[in-house]
Amino acid sequence: MSDAAAPTPQTPDAEMLLGFWYPALRSPQVSGRKLHKAMLLGVPLVVGRTDQGQVFALRDTCPHRSMPLSDGQFDGAQVECCYHGWRFEATTGQCREIPSLVGHEKLKVERIHASSFPCEEADGYVWVYLPDPATRNSSPPPVPRLPVFSQRYRITHLAADLPSNVDHGIIGLMDPAHGPFVHQSWWWRSRRSIQVKEKTFEPIPNGFRIQAHSPSPNSAPYKLLKAHGQPTTTIEFVLPNMRFEQIRAGDKWFSSRATVTPIERNLCRIDVVAAWNIFPWFPFTVSLLRFFGRMFIEQDRLTMEKQAVGLRHSPTLMLVDDADRPAKWYFQLKAAHLEARRTGRPMEHPLKGPVTLRWRS
Ligand code: FES
Ligand SMILES: [Fe+2]
Repeated sequence: MSDAAAPTPQTPDAEMLLGFWYPALRSPQVSGRKLHKAMLLGVPLVVGRTDQGQVFALRDTCPHRSMPLSDGQFDGAQVECCYHGWRFEATTGQCREIPSLVGHEKLKVERIHASSFPCEEADGYVWVYLPDPATRNSSPPPVPRLPVFSQRYRITHLAADLPSNVDHGIIGLMDPAHGPFVHQSWWWRSRRSIQVKEKTFEPIPNGFRIQAHSPSPNSAPYKLLKAHGQPTTTIEFVLPNMRFEQIRAGDKWFSSRATVTPIERNLCRIDVVAAWNIFPWFPFTVSLLRFFGRMFIEQDRLTMEKQAVGLRHSPTLMLVDDADRPAKWYFQLKAAHLEARRTGRPMEHPLKGPVTLRWRS
């Protein structure tokens, strides 16, 4: 057995990557003057929307004596802490008032800040950018967006909590070998449908892509799309946590993005957003896609719940070629990203060019 083919012992370090945007909440949840709690990478947040419609995210800790700001009041512009009434500008965190001051103190109120995070909406999510202390002075990159290919389309969102660290959530997302075992059903596929797959992967910035290919002819989108032309699929993984999939045939398209967001060390959430312009007149497409999407996510969630039992004692894991190679690349990309951050040098991509992988699934 060559070295490359030997199972690789691997212990995920579950490090949560700073310096990226993460979806905190769905946009429609954040309405009125209600303050919402959210958690990203173990950072407690209070999220809300000003009367002007601007979303904001502050660390859910008052800089005075750490009362959660989410327990306070919000007047549409300023958040007031419930303990001593300090008031903070919602969008900047700047302190505006300390009610206990009588006027002769030297304290400059406006120099005090509650920690505030860049916060924007896209694709129906409120995204929060968690800065990396190593690159604190650079401005955040644009918020990730789901690619869409026409003016009009339908869109839907699904989410589930996964009781695992972010690494297991992500490698589960890219794992081609679990399909026939976890997602078995008479109308989708069974163990008997296992066959040899061969796909060529190529490097892209911060990730890798499966070169455009025909989707599996037994998959549902393929059957729906083939009337419009020969369908092609592209699948991409991009750090820190995103899997994009697009299927296109003529002017018809289906586009989805799954993100695995670390909430805390041993809890993550998968958010799936999907948009399409296939059969926009068909009233049941949203419900149908949600039904099947939910079933798939539920199958993955239940699997991870069981796996969490096995992972409790931090065993060493094995990654085998070729089916687990994307998982190996994920760990290598993550390590390369952290190394680039440490040294300040450009990231060295683990993939030097296209690689063809073969596996059975
Ligand atoms: S703890 Fe918030 S005002 Fe004192
Ligand atoms: Fe799955």
